[in-house]
Amino acid sequence: MTGRSPAPAGLPAPEPALEVESLDAWYGGARILTGVTFHVAAGEVVALLGRNGAGKTTTLRTVFGLGPRRRGRLRFFGRDLTACPPHRIAHRGLGYVPEDRRLFADLTVAENLEMGRLPPRPDRPPWTPARLFALFPNLGARATGLAGRLSGGEQQMLALARALMGNPLVLMLDEPSEGLAPRLVQTVAQILRELRSQGVGVLLAEQSLSLAEAVADRAYIIEKGEIRHHAPMATLSADPAARRTWLAV
Ligand SMILES: Nc1ncnc2c1ncn2[C@@H]1O[C@H](COP(=O)(O)OP(=O)(O)O)[C@@H](O)[C@H]1O
Ligand SMILES: [Mg+2]
Repeated sequence: MTGRSPAPAGLPAPEPALEVESLDAWYGGARILTGVTFHVAAGEVVALLGRNGAGKTTTLRTVFGLGPRRRGRLRFFGRDLTACPPHRIAHRGLGYVPEDRRLFADLTVAENLEMGRLPPRPDRPPWTPARLFALFPNLGARATGLAGRLSGGEQQMLALARALMGNPLVLMLDEPSEGLAPRLVQTVAQILRELRSQGVGVLLAEQSLSLAEAVADRAYIIEKGEIRHHAPMATLSADPAARRTWLAV
């Protein structure tokens, strides 16, 4: 399915926060994305699901302005972002936790958090290191240690915590559950639910279903750089044929 995706029956259509319309992207001469259209509303968790190589990372990078050559429309709370560089997009309130984390290995945990700090948003308590350390006690215990010495799971938590320091209005996460122990996946799920309750929109790119099933309201399925399916997460969970067709499970 391509083109604009309506809200599935039975779900309200809240205020769109991030709107991506007819996004095409190329690496060199190779077209990677074709007509990718989706939206994330404030206070909604939306999964972007697809197998390895489907185009999830390219979609997130392209939306954040890091990506390859692109064509299409990006709007953020109604404002056109199409020509915005990544730092301006971040200031507007779009957060991004990249797949490769991009931590500063030679800086401490606390210093990495400071690198993510952006001004607070109106009507919302700002994220602080103290609040984040309460959520991630392991990071608090290693606040003065180097990020490069953290375990893989702790580095993922630090990448998420650093993105939260930017007080995002919409947060995009690229495979945050990859390689995490189930207990940490539950921690991430709890944080995403808290963000949703604060009205933050979340776009969750995942190839595994477990985190998406725990938190997502809706899901888009991407395959070969095109959105093929769009459904409430609960509907997709109960649809083994769709999961077999488009996902690894
Ligand atoms: N830097 C790049 N140069 C050329 N092709 C790329 C590059 N990055 C990704 N691709 C290709 O784009 C497609 C989508 O990749 P990606 O967005 O990383 O998928 P996913 O995140 O869903 O696993 C794949 O066919 C991949 O080989
Ligand atoms: Mg990827």
